[in-house]
Amino acid sequence: AKSIVVLISGSGSNLQALLDHFADQPERARISAVISNRADAYGLERAKAAGVPAHVLSHRDYPDRPSFDRALAEVINRYQPDLVVLAGFMRILTPEFTDRYIGRLFNIHPSLLPKYKGLDTHQRALDAGDTEHGCSVHFVTSELDGGPVIIQARTPILPGDSAENLAQRVHQLEHRIYPLAAQWFVDGRLQLEAGTVVLDGTVLPSGGQP
Ligand code: GAR
Repeated sequence: AKSIVVLISGSGSNLQALLDHFADQPERARISAVISNRADAYGLERAKAAGVPAHVLSHRDYPDRPSFDRALAEVINRYQPDLVVLAGFMRILTPEFTDRYIGRLFNIHPSLLPKYKGLDTHQRALDAGDTEHGCSVHFVTSELDGGPVIIQARTPILPGDSAENLAQRVHQLEHRIYPLAAQWFVDGRLQLEAGTVVLDGTVLPSGGQP
């Protein structure tokens, strides 16, 4: 079976969506481990409940980013992953790390990239008066939130929306598109080729699959 390692920092609702999605195809793909940089991440409980090994690797135990990233890679590699998935993992990764997993490292980001890289995406979309918002799954490169987009999902911004209820709607979209993209990858349908995303042999536009 294909091995998927998931990195988290918090609630892990995207992790849960992935666990649920892959639960019924253990011979094809499985979540083989979950790693959190925070000991209090609720996602660790989700991993344990699903019988998946859960590791805590605190960045505070390492003197600098490169040494944390090397330790992280050491744990990841124990599970010989075909795919490494960032699911609310709130640490910036070094180019050494992202290069090592290039083409098999995914992130999900709560905005319609290239809009609103970084933090506070829901409030920023509201403040800008945007009429729509959403989320993006992308291949991770050394550029923060800048790698090629695989798929996006959108929701209209309605009068009276707050950052909180927007976040809630975006989360629901995330839980649909992240398992979908991971499934494409483990089925061999999705590749990063020369900086572009190829799905079923076709180069996707820079906004990914709508
Ligand atoms: C998700 O909304 C994800 O897009 C975001 O954190 C949340 C994690 O939720 N990621 C980032 O902001 C990455 N910079 P979860 O822990 O419930 O999956």
